[in-house]
Amino acid sequence: LDRYAVIGNPVGHSKSPTIHAAFAEQTVQAMTYEALLAPLDGFKDVVSSFFQNGGKGLNITVPFKLEAWQMAERRTERAELAGAVNTLWRSDEGCLWGDTTDGVGMVTDITSNHGITITGKRVLILGAGGAVRGVLQPLLEQNPDRVVIANRTLSKAETLADLFRSFGTIEASSFETLLGEFDLVINGTSASLQGDLPPIPEGVISRDSRVYDMMYSAEKTAFMQWAESQGVALAVDGLGMLVEQAAESFAIWRGVRPETGPVIRQVRAAMV
Ligand code: ATR
Repeated sequence: LDRYAVIGNPVGHSKSPTIHAAFAEQTVQAMTYEALLAPLDGFKDVVSSFFQNGGKGLNITVPFKLEAWQMAERRTERAELAGAVNTLWRSDEGCLWGDTTDGVGMVTDITSNHGITITGKRVLILGAGGAVRGVLQPLLEQNPDRVVIANRTLSKAETLADLFRSFGTIEASSFETLLGEFDLVINGTSASLQGDLPPIPEGVISRDSRVYDMMYSAEKTAFMQWAESQGVALAVDGLGMLVEQAAESFAIWRGVRPETGPVIRQVRAAMV
């Protein structure tokens, strides 16, 4: 059986083993997928010995995505810009490759699973950390009218806007100075992990706005609840993004893309 794993710290609550087991069953692949806990100072050793012992591919989660980026001998263009790697594999020539599938996973979830159009729309993305950097290129490739990055620390949003300027219309803003209405608002801050809300001014969303939280939880996230209290009809969380990024990694490794709908429903049902 071909061996795969997710590496993180902590990693015990990762849903990746369940998701990839469902994909393997559905597409009839002879493989195993486990969770590997790496010590905070021992990521590279765990990766090296995994591949030395014949492992085929790895997913990387918190806090190792940057180290995985550094460790990859070759990277895809989207991983290069994202500054993070969530998928590692060894090519037939023995070269360690790194990719990031988070961005394409988010875009697929937004457009295909939720039927939300990005092309031509005014998009606001909240936050300017690693999570947001990881999705900007695939987001801009949908040709939105414009993307505004709003962040508590303005300089971080400005750095990201500069980095991705060649991919489309993108600008930085603080929360206080946000102006105008947006068709799609994406929360990429880690604020909701503490049940916190980014300070979004009035008038930024309307009833017709679509709202997407990159986080997910069994209950509606604080951000989704806030959006619904503002009258927004469609506010969704990022559980589908988790399954879609996994499907993209699976396709890289196995050459077959699993159907995600049934797996999203399975993972959702197991959460409540
Ligand atoms: P991640 O990898 O999840 O993106 P990160 O790189 O630490 O984590 O980035 C966290 C993001 O959430 C940042 O944009 C951060 O804002 P700052 O850059 O100003 O620190 C944002 N964030 C975290 N807590 C927040 C809060 N309570 N309100 C608003 N933004 C918050």
